Amino acid sequence: MTSVNLGLRKLVYRAIYDHHLLFLIHMDLTYRPRRLRRSSGLRAMVREHSLSPADFIYPLFVHEGSDVQSIGAMPGANRWSVDHLVGEVQRAWDLGIRCVVLFPKVSESLKTEDGAECFNENGLIPRAIRRLKQDLPEMTIMTDVALDPYSCDGHDGIVSSEGIVLNDETVEFLCRQSVVQAQAGADLIGPSDMMDGRVGAIREALDEEGFENVGIISYTAKYASAYYGPFREALDSAPRAETDKPIPKDKSTYQMDPANAREAITEAQLDEQEGADILMVKPGLAYLDIIYRLRQESELPIAAYNVSGEYAMVKAAAACGWIDEESVVLETLLSFKRAGADLILTYHACDAAKWLAQARNEA
Ligand code: PBG
Repeated sequence: MTSVNLGLRKLVYRAIYDHHLLFLIHMDLTYRPRRLRRSSGLRAMVREHSLSPADFIYPLFVHEGSDVQSIGAMPGANRWSVDHLVGEVQRAWDLGIRCVVLFPKVSESLKTEDGAECFNENGLIPRAIRRLKQDLPEMTIMTDVALDPYSCDGHDGIVSSEGIVLNDETVEFLCRQSVVQAQAGADLIGPSDMMDGRVGAIREALDEEGFENVGIISYTAKYASAYYGPFREALDSAPRAETDKPIPKDKSTYQMDPANAREAITEAQLDEQEGADILMVKPGLAYLDIIYRLRQESELPIAAYNVSGEYAMVKAAAACGWIDEESVVLETLLSFKRAGADLILTYHACDAAKWLAQARNEA
C-alpha cells in the first residue's frame, strides 16, 4: 500500500469513528468460530470435555496418632487418625467422590532397612482399610505399594550395602505388601515403586491368594520429579542417610528421567503385558504430553496424578491473592481430561467436587 493510500485509509477510519459509523466496517468471512461461543448454551453444546467427581481419586494421609495434623507445604490437606479418616472419607463420598488412596505416616521406630512393616497385617494401612470397608463398604479403596514410608533409607526399594536399590528382592516384598492390602479389603493396588517386573509379579501373587478380582492401577510413567517434595514432608519419607551406607540422594535409578517420552511407551507396553488394569502418569501438569501419548498407545483407562508440588504451588499463589484458586484448579483438572486422562488423583478433589456442584446449581 502506498503512503498516499495509507493516509487516505486513516482519514476514512477517523471519519467512521468520529461519526459513530462502525457498522460500516464488515469483513467478508465464511468461517467465524465465534458463532459457537456466543452464549453459554451454545458453549455447553459443543464442549468437548467435562469434569465429574466420579473422575477423582482423593489421596489421604493417615497417621498413628488420634488427632488431625496439618501439613506445612500442603495447606488444606491433613494427616488423619484412622477415626478421623472415616469422617473425611464420608465427606468425600457425600460430594460424589468414589475412590480414595491411602498413604501412611509410619512411626520412625517401625522403619527398617528392608521396610518389612509394609506387610504387617496389623500395620496402619491394613487397619485403616478394614475400618473404611466396615463403615463405608461402597467406597473404592486404592493403596500405594512401595517401601519408602517404611524404609529408614527413604527409598521405594531395599538399598544394598553398596547403595544400590535392589530390584528383584524388592519385588518380593512388594508382592507381600500387595497381598496384605488385598486381604484387608483394598480394591485397587497401586505400585508406585518403579521396580521392573513388579506388575506381573503382583498380579501373580494376588491371583495365587485368590484375589483375582483386585485390580492393579500401575504408576506406569512415574518420573524422578522435584514435584513430590511436599508429599515427602507429609510422610517424612525423603531419601536420607542414617547409617554409613551410601544412600542414593534421589530416585533417578528407578523413576524415569524427565527428559524421556518414548520410554513411557515402553513402560506402558510392559505394564499392559504384565496385567495392569489402569495406567498412570505422574506428575500430571508437566507431563500432559505423556498422558496424550499413552492415550494414543493404549485402550486401558489412564490416570493422571496431580501431585503434591502442583497442589502446593496453586495454594501458595492463591494465598498471595495472585490467582483465583477455583478457576485455576478446575482449568488444571480439565487439562488432564483434555490430554486423555480418564481419572485424576488430586488433593483438590473435595473442593473441586464442591465447586462443580455449585456451578451445576447455578446453571
Ligand atoms: C511413594 C510415592 C510418592 C508419591 C506417591 N507415592 C513419592 C515418591 O515417589 O517419592 C508422590 C505423590 C505426591 O507428590 O503427591 N513411592
